[in-house]
Amino acid sequence: VRLYVPRDAAALALGADRVAKKLAEEAAGRGIDITIVRNGSRGMHWLEPLVEVETAAGRIAYGPVKPSDVAGLLDAGLIEGKAHPLCLGKTEEIAFLRNQTRLTFARCGVTDPLSLADYKAHGGLLGLEKAIAMAPADIVKEVTDSGLRGRGGAGFPTGIKWKTVLEAPGEKKYIVCNADEGDSGTFADRMIMEGDPFVLIEGMAIAGLATGATKGYVYTRSEYPHAIAAMSDAIDIARAAGILGPSVLGSGKAFDMEIRTGAGAYVCGEETALLNSLEGKRGVVRAKPPLPALQGFLGRPTVVNNVISLASVPVVMEKGAAYYRDFGMGRSRGTIPIQIAGNVKHGGLYETAFGLTLGEIVDAIGGGTASGRPVRAVQVGGPLGAYFPRALFDTPFDYEAFAAKDGLIGHAGITVFDDTVDMLKQARFAMEFCAVESCGKCTPCRIGSTRGVETADKIAEGIEPEKNRALLTDLCNTMKFGSLCALGGFTPYPVMSAMTHFPEDFSPAPIAQA
Ligand code: NAI
Ligand code: SF4
Repeated sequence: VRLYVPRDAAALALGADRVAKKLAEEAAGRGIDITIVRNGSRGMHWLEPLVEVETAAGRIAYGPVKPSDVAGLLDAGLIEGKAHPLCLGKTEEIAFLRNQTRLTFARCGVTDPLSLADYKAHGGLLGLEKAIAMAPADIVKEVTDSGLRGRGGAGFPTGIKWKTVLEAPGEKKYIVCNADEGDSGTFADRMIMEGDPFVLIEGMAIAGLATGATKGYVYTRSEYPHAIAAMSDAIDIARAAGILGPSVLGSGKAFDMEIRTGAGAYVCGEETALLNSLEGKRGVVRAKPPLPALQGFLGRPTVVNNVISLASVPVVMEKGAAYYRDFGMGRSRGTIPIQIAGNVKHGGLYETAFGLTLGEIVDAIGGGTASGRPVRAVQVGGPLGAYFPRALFDTPFDYEAFAAKDGLIGHAGITVFDDTVDMLKQARFAMEFCAVESCGKCTPCRIGSTRGVETADKIAEGIEPEKNRALLTDLCNTMKFGSLCALGGFTPYPVMSAMTHFPEDFSPAPIAQA
């Protein structure tokens, strides 16, 4: 009998290793022959550790399982998928999963992440095989036609970036995967690296074939030890199987890759700071131009793409551009893995076509707050994203629609807050975050963020609130238009949205006269 217990960091944090150990011990004690597969997470964090059993009727899920539940589960007939208070029925039919469109995350939680046979049995390598038979320019065209845009946050068309690299002169080119994933409340990159590392390897190999790059690097952070381990093992397996190396799947074209670890500075997720860090230098932002596509790693043409952008390429190649672009709305094509976090009942990863409204995501899918109190604000796009009030819950999840409301989708992380949140404190936090994480290269960000914290404090203390609110607005404009990179340039989004949509929190009672 095959049982599945995730090896994903979120499941491990909730005790998955202890559950797996207990299952093995109890089964051995009862003479039951079981195989425990350590799969990726299905992305339903409130149900982790989620144990699944393979039955003739399909996979049956139980969760959240504690080690102390294991004996009772076996007594109740877990092995046959029988009823128990923790039984959730067929995994695929759990509403949160059933209603998703899983293209990029199709295998995540389904397969054994380090089994190449399992990967192939679930459609793996079909995209790469197709790409091998195509000319580089045709691969680039397919990716361009799919409408895939950078999932790291900026939404730049992936195919156009690849075209720039393909056409850039140079003997040596690189693919750099940005797996730094610094946005608070985001975990899509980590989940795919832990749950389906081969899809990222396949995506990077396709990017190599498309652009003429022969070497790839996955740049991630030291806070992701499980992702680093899974990726490293998967790279070794892929190399041994001839997927990576001097002749990718016998194509005669070379592509190899390795994983590199940074110490976890937020700014090292900015592509030029990342490249500096990758080169062994301090993670300071470089001025653009030159674009990394023309002069990137070691000054050579480099594709810098987010994990999810690259991991979405195999399905684009396998099923074709038309299939992929059929999902979505407007200029936001395909699917997006939304990461629902914060004070929310059903937190986790939800992959769906662009176009759901923010309200549908928070209320219907997320189930409202975990505290049971009303939702007051939702921050979309990480710590540099705007706060949305309920009044804007009709905004569809689409790059342009969010920009039109002075917000951003970013890496598609959303953090939910209930009505106890103090939005002035959140605005101060954004400035403080920027001050701590600033690389120090430009003045609006380096100095502006600290002045921003001071100004927010003055407003909180009731010191000349009107004047200081105007000052904070002015400062935000300077940072937005005068900063060199998105860290300083986007910090005004949370600050200004908090001030605009929640003005009552910025008008504290005046200081009482002595
Ligand atoms: P950007 O708009 O400057 O650039 C987007 C990408 O397009 C870059 O890779 C750039 O090199 C490339 N590009 C632009 N013009 C090009 C051309 N003509 N040919 C080829 N390539 C071209 O945005 P940036 O600063 O790279 O990213 C900002 C975004 O990062 C924000 O929207 C934010 O949401 C996101 N972000 C994501 C985080 C995460 O954890 N994933 C953390 C912080 C911010
Ligand atoms: Fe560095 Fe901040 Fe300027 Fe970006 S905006 S270059 S992080 S100082």
